[in-house]
Amino acid sequence: MKLLFVCLGNICRSPTAEVVLRHIAAREYPDLSLHVDSAGTAGYHVGEPPDVRAQEAARRRGYDMSSLRARVVEPADFERFDLILAMDRSNLAVLRRRAPATWHERIRLFLEFAPDLGTLEVPDPYYGGPNGFEEVLDLVEAASRGLLNHLRARARAA
Ligand code: 4NP
Repeated sequence: MKLLFVCLGNICRSPTAEVVLRHIAAREYPDLSLHVDSAGTAGYHVGEPPDVRAQEAARRRGYDMSSLRARVVEPADFERFDLILAMDRSNLAVLRRRAPATWHERIRLFLEFAPDLGTLEVPDPYYGGPNGFEEVLDLVEAASRGLLNHLRARARAA
């Protein structure tokens, strides 16, 4: 199963989701075989490591984002990844516009996998205060467990 997380710049939300899901999957879902990546719909930060504020917030919870580098979503991603998880409706709309209709079903909002959160969007923390990065981590941790439970249930039913 190949998962791609997508936000705008690929330096805050989607790289956070990439490391958090990978970390939780390795410890709590060793039965699942996953390939996890992230990308942005915009290219402002291509080649850069994640935002230092995101890295520091993640490190305080035991996640290491330092080796990641930002990239842009490319046309081949729509075919290569089984599930493409957008952080908000705006990025979801951009992805659906860029992807051939054949692949639209695999493009979803990440927070659909955590319905109890009561929100479908991970707010962009880039221009906000430090609390925004904690909120991103809270939402991403909950949705990662929701998605991993969904994938495990699906694997068991198959
Ligand atoms: P991200 O956050 O989409 O979560 O990586 C942002 C990063 C950069 C910008 C906006 C949002 N920017 O405008 O440069």
